[in-house]
Amino acid sequence: MVVLSGAGLSAASGVPTFRGAGGWWRGREAMSLATPEAFEDDPDLVLDFYAERRKGLLGVQPNPGHAALVSLQASLGAARVVLVTQNVDGLLQAAAAALGLPLSLTEMHGSIWTVRCADDERHPRIPVERDAPDPRGVCGRCGARLRPDVVWFGEMPRQMQRIQQALSRCSVFLSVGTSGQVYPAAGFVDLARQGGARCIEVNPEPTSPRFHQALAAGAEVALPALVAAWTAPCSA
Ligand code: APR
Repeated sequence: MVVLSGAGLSAASGVPTFRGAGGWWRGREAMSLATPEAFEDDPDLVLDFYAERRKGLLGVQPNPGHAALVSLQASLGAARVVLVTQNVDGLLQAAAAALGLPLSLTEMHGSIWTVRCADDERHPRIPVERDAPDPRGVCGRCGARLRPDVVWFGEMPRQMQRIQQALSRCSVFLSVGTSGQVYPAAGFVDLARQGGARCIEVNPEPTSPRFHQALAAGAEVALPALVAAWTAPCSA
């Protein structure tokens, strides 16, 4: 099973999505805030945007949807449940920590909780502490500016080969809380279908008929019920 999550998974925790009402891209120009060119043109504007997003995450707690995904993987094992998220908020990790469970997660769009060298992503990354001021320094290795360790528009998401392999082999693909507007994630359902997987979407506003099943509900409601059913002991 491959599970892809998007901003809708964190909506119930009070984190704005990108394209919904109150979303990050409402009234803001994504291309002036989340591209390498934007960072080149006005690094402080971009760093202010990510500092604002981190500030908005202070005190935010994971919701039952995050907990359900962590529990699903802990119950069935990381070899059988591949968790991939487009989110950079760290809430799945927070849910695992709160539950005292292990977590194997692919953050294909990186993390808002680390910064990295803008010139060479092989240079050491720096964690951003929740209560620390936003790091605006330079790379300790080469002196280049530090940038958010997130994948911007026009950049290649992470672990794509591993994700594509998992999609080609999975028997179930579950897409949670994503509008399916941004590739390559938006094409994952097609890869899963080609591999013969049953494709299920959890989204109050179903996005595409390419899914075999659409659960038109919030992740915080649908996922606990799904996971309870999928992990219930089989009655003899
Ligand atoms: N449960 C499940 N889904 C929800 C919920 C909820 N409680 N609330 C809203 N949604 C759905 C919305 O219907 C929408 O389809 O979550 C989706 C959020 O879509 P977007 O705001 O487009 O976010 P996402 O799909 O994660 O964006 C993908 O675009 O801006 C880039 O890099 C950014 O990772 C992001 C990518």
